[in-house]
Amino acid sequence: MMTSVDSFDSRPIGIFDSGVGGISVANAIRQCMPNEQLIYVADTINAPYGEKSDEFIYQRMAYISQRLLQHDVKAIVVACNTATTAAIARLRSEFNLPIIGVEPGIKPAVLATKTGVIGVLATPRTLKTPAFANLTQRFSGQAKVLLQPCPDLVLQIETLAFASKTMDSSLNSYIKPLLNQGADTLVLGCTHYNFIAKQIAVKAGPEVTIIRTEMAVAKCLQQKLYMESKLSTEHPLGQAVFITSGDPLLFKQQVNALWQVKADLANLEIKSL
Ligand code: DGL
Repeated sequence: MMTSVDSFDSRPIGIFDSGVGGISVANAIRQCMPNEQLIYVADTINAPYGEKSDEFIYQRMAYISQRLLQHDVKAIVVACNTATTAAIARLRSEFNLPIIGVEPGIKPAVLATKTGVIGVLATPRTLKTPAFANLTQRFSGQAKVLLQPCPDLVLQIETLAFASKTMDSSLNSYIKPLLNQGADTLVLGCTHYNFIAKQIAVKAGPEVTIIRTEMAVAKCLQQKLYMESKLSTEHPLGQAVFITSGDPLLFKQQVNALWQVKADLANLEIKSL
């Protein structure tokens, strides 16, 4: 049991993504640390980040981090692989608080594969970054790593079109070539894809392992807060606040569909960034 009576910091945790993908990370954080207060920011107006430059993404990360600091957050989670691989090092050098990122789970995939072939589904941008190349070089070992850019999935998930024909044919076109090349492990390298993990698993079949990273991120954050005596023990169920740079009404529908803590939805309050 990690919590102790000595560790007490009821300030909120800030979490952000280009859109709704990071809600999957927030769900894991909520499950792991129900006492914590959460502030989730979706930069909806700028989604997908995958089409933007490093500089633009960094400027948004810095702006959102400043806004979160105005809410006195004790830690920030960059719940986006694209933003993490683009500029988390720069963000950490500019902001003096714990900043946790999310990267494709190459390491657990290499441990899981039996065929020695893994497939990584991610935004085209994530797969092109030096940070991703470095991650693959560090952890792939003898495994063959197949890269599958999925340019259209983020926006389909933003519109909650999980069961559409377009989604179905996109997934077929991304997953089948990976399986044909012997992949037995698929890495979900974008937080949005956690919301279609079941569809991906069904398409890939029971022999294929799906690697998600949101719970590992939540546990890493928990460990970090514990080490710094910043875990909260005050609230039985911490408050969750949702903020968007886009249309608040649309965001409310998205949060209603994707946020797992139904108790929070009764008083759901959406704010504008
Ligand atoms: N959820 C983001 C990620 O994990 C989406 C990136 C984007 O907006 O392009 O990569």
